[in-house]
Formats: sequence, structure tokens, C-alpha cells
Amino acid sequence: MKERLQVEMHFPPGFLWGTATAAHQVEGGNRNSWSAWEDQGGGRVFGDQVSGPACNWWAAGQAEADFARAAAMHNNALRLSVEWSRIEPEPGQWDAAALDRYSTMIDALLAHGLTPMVTLHHFTNPLWLEERGGWLHPDTPQHFARFAARVAEALGDRVTLWCTINEPMVYSVVSYLDGRWPPGHSNLGEAMQVVAALVRGHAAAYAAIRALRPGAQIGFAKHQISFAAGTPLIGHLGARVLNTLFNEAIFGPFNGKPLRLPGLTVDIPAAQDTLDWIGLQYYSRQYVYLKPGGEYLGLLGMGVPDGRARGPAAWGELAPEEALRRIRHLHRLVRRPIYITEMGLPDADDSLRPAYLARTLGAVWKACMHSYPVRGFFFWSLVDNFEWAEGYDPRYRFGLYGVDFTTQAREERRSARLYGAICAANALTAAMVREHAPEAFSSLFPVPTAAR
Ligand code: FCB
Repeated sequence: MKERLQVEMHFPPGFLWGTATAAHQVEGGNRNSWSAWEDQGGGRVFGDQVSGPACNWWAAGQAEADFARAAAMHNNALRLSVEWSRIEPEPGQWDAAALDRYSTMIDALLAHGLTPMVTLHHFTNPLWLEERGGWLHPDTPQHFARFAARVAEALGDRVTLWCTINEPMVYSVVSYLDGRWPPGHSNLGEAMQVVAALVRGHAAAYAAIRALRPGAQIGFAKHQISFAAGTPLIGHLGARVLNTLFNEAIFGPFNGKPLRLPGLTVDIPAAQDTLDWIGLQYYSRQYVYLKPGGEYLGLLGMGVPDGRARGPAAWGELAPEEALRRIRHLHRLVRRPIYITEMGLPDADDSLRPAYLARTLGAVWKACMHSYPVRGFFFWSLVDNFEWAEGYDPRYRFGLYGVDFTTQAREERRSARLYGAICAANALTAAMVREHAPEAFSSLFPVPTAAR
């Protein structure tokens, strides 16, 4: 009888397995900086779409139905965000009904055995805050801390894991430099100011939550890009520069050093020792090349060489094995426990996702074996959702469950079955890969064909 390879890659005991979501992308019916942006049309969102009902999570029982799907996948955690504009619709006015709805969601998560991770800022601002200048207004970090305290008061008896801010560099760059997200500015100076404000906001929120909930575990989620040289010399140098600016610079103040950005050097001492953990969000590799007058520093562009993109080219190149390097790099920058707070890919027909998931987790497992303190993994995302400027563009479907946005029907994808098997076993095994993602087998287990 043919001997088949029986490898089992076990994850550490207590490892958190979940998915990540964000309020505006799933709830529906929000009135915030993003809905105002959508309403303006003019190509700001794909096909001039609006988020509308999204995945209908705000309606009673709807988020809960998706939580049941997460539980059926044997997840033991779930990352969601709370929408500031719902909780504080006017400055200093708190909406008790909104807090109650979130409280109900947290209870439902716990009833399903899902440890909640709650994000406080995921790209959206209340309109009153946006209108007074958003994160360029000097009071915003304090407003954010007051909001964080209110949420910690309401939910902190059941929530331990807090993520203050999602992707501060992405938010600053895309909203204030690329101008593709609200408020649509293209101003390097402003973008860098916003990075500093977000660091201050994190630090202030950290202190506010910690004062109320001494047991809280607080961090933020950092998007890391693998920058590669698209051309010799300048491409190589450009990749290094962008790596320093985008992936590394923000960590200065957390390590007692200044925040050093183009045109801005500032000390933010309040940020020192305000990370109980750090969140890694890793999606793709981008190639940097010389582009006089280009988007980055007026000199550089980013893209994927022809033929290397498997999904939409703007998304970059999928390079799941790079997850190991990203973990190592992040750990060098911040010596704290790591949660992988997002990883995923746009893949409407789920043809790439199972292999991508398996190969990513192979890399994460290696990191655990090398004693990097990786504590959990949150796949982006549980369900298809409203993908910001890409709206409901059918090419940008990220869910383990598909969503039909006209009927709200959910469809379990092949990748959901693989993820369920992994989470149930707290392990990735050769048998699972053989069954659910055979196309990843040879890269995960480079063994002679006879043993496959
Ligand atoms: C991340 C965002 C998340 C989602 C995924 C695809 O950068 O945090 O909201 O848009 O990308």
C-alpha cells in the first residue's frame, strides 16, 4: 500500500483563531465620513456605489447569524470594530441604544465561545469630527481617548483585547496623500501630521482604557507591505526607503525614539510602553520602480510586473510565505506578542484562497516553531463586505463566506471548510491540505511525488 505523508503542524495551545471585520464594511446604515464620501459620487467609489445595508449586521440577529457561522468554523475569536459615529453622534453625546447593540453582539460572541477583539477606529470618523478637520484637529486624540473610555466602560467587563487604531499608515497615506479616501487630500505634510495624531490618539486611548480596565490588552493593527525592487538601483533603494517610512518609522515613539517622517520629526513620549501586543496585517508584495513625478516622494511608483498578479493588479503580488519574514521583521521592531489581525485576498471564485490560506499558515506555523510570540490569527474576512473605494466591485470579494448583496444570502466557500478543519484541530495537516487545497501541497510539503 502506498504510504502517504502524515504531517501535522500544531499551533501553540490557546492560539486564537478568528476572522476580522470592520463596522462600516458590514453594519449598513452608517452616517459617517465614509457615507458622506460615498454620497458625493463622482467616481469616488467603484460604480458610484454606496455601502447601503452592507451585510446588514446592525439589524437584530444578523451579525449574530454570522457569528454562528464563525463558531461553526470552530473559530474561538472574532475581531470587529465599533462605529464611533453611532456611539457619539454629536460631541459628548452618547447613544445608549448603540452601545446596547454592541453589548448584545459581545454577549452573542461570548455565547458562541468567540473571544472578542474590539477595534475602536477602522477608517471612519463621525461627521462632526470630520467637519472640524478630522485627525488634523489638535483635539482629536483627546476626543478619541474619551470615546475609547466610554466604550471600555460599556464593554470592558467582557472585552479584554482592544485594538485602538486600524492601519494608521494606510489611513494617513490613502486619505491625505493618495486622496482616494475621505477627505480626499493630496498633501504630504498633512499625511505626516495625521500619522503623528494617530500615534497620540493611540497613546491617549491606551491610558484611558488602562485606567478603567487594568486587565485590558491593548495594541494597534499595522499593515506591513513587502517592498521589492522593481528595477535595479533606484527600485532597490526605493524599496528600502518605503520600507523604512511605511513599515518602520511609526514604531519610533513606542520605543522611546522620535517619530521621524519626511518633513516631520517629533517626540511623542506618551506613546512609550503603550503596546501590550502588536497587530500584523499583511496582504501583498509591491515592486518599487523609478517614476519621476510618481505618487511616492515624487520619484517612485509601485506595482506588480506583468504576469505576476493573480488577482487585481493594484492589489500587488500574493506572497504568502513572506508572512514569516513579516513576523520576524515586526518582532524586531516591537518586542511584543503578535496577533495577525488581518490577512486575506480578493478572490471572488475562491480559486486562490484555500491554497493562500494553507501556505500563509504554513509560514505562521514556522514562526511559532521559531519561538516568535504569535498568539492568534484573524483572517480577513468572515463575509464579503463593502471594500471602501472598491465598493462592491465583484473582483473584491474577501469572505470565507460569499454574500449575495441583493438577498443577503450567505454561501460557504471551500476555504471556509479548510479554515474550519484547521481551527478545529488547532493544526494544519497534510491530510487537510490534500483534501481542501491540493494545489498547495507541493509548496507546503516538498516531498517526492510517491509520498504525497
Ligand atoms: C485592509 C483593511 C480592511 C480591508 C482589507 C481588504 O487594509 O484594514 O478594512 O479593506 O484591507
